[in-house]
Amino acid sequence: MISNSCITKILYNREEIKFRIAEIAEWINRNYANSKEIVFIGVLKGSLIFLTELIQKVKIDSMIDFVIAKSYFGGTESTGELKIITDIDIKIENKDVILVDDILDSGITLAKIRDHLKLKSPKSLKVITLFDKKSKRKYDIDADVSGFEVPDAFLVGYGLDYQDKYRNWPFVAIFDPNKGEK
Ligand code: IMP
Ligand code: MG
Repeated sequence: MISNSCITKILYNREEIKFRIAEIAEWINRNYANSKEIVFIGVLKGSLIFLTELIQKVKIDSMIDFVIAKSYFGGTESTGELKIITDIDIKIENKDVILVDDILDSGITLAKIRDHLKLKSPKSLKVITLFDKKSKRKYDIDADVSGFEVPDAFLVGYGLDYQDKYRNWPFVAIFDPNKGEK
């Protein structure tokens, strides 16, 4: 068992998350039953764990690609600027595309990446996230499906990081970096 003094509360364990991911995969299998193929586009690095588990349960022919994006901050707040550092490689024109990330917070990351992908004329474009901090939304974007609506707290685990660590934790926890020694 992982022990870290900055963990305030474990919100969901691995079994609960895996069960919900299986439900999301079922939603995809139902809604894309007539689709020739799906292109999953993950936002690195946070989407990695979620996307890996999700696509293994999808029964439609699928392709996977990634974008790397960087947001710019003035102090601790996002300035509203987002730069795509690495773009997708696969051609998505006239394809069914699902954009996947770990969490929707202000929404800037996914709103800007969605708008960027739209310019490539996909046949359809949906957004799926494992977690959703609905109360924090500042940009006009909603997930078509999300795993769990979570409170306005800093979370780590299951792909979510603090200073690039703890993405590998097999649960998601509220994390307070000031709470203890690291
Ligand atoms: P947004 O662009 O404000 O919606 O934030 C999305 C990005 O911020 C996600 O891809 C995460 O990398 C990061 N993020 C947002 N909330 C959290 C959190 O609670 N823990 C860790 N990373 C987070
Ligand atoms: Mg991220």
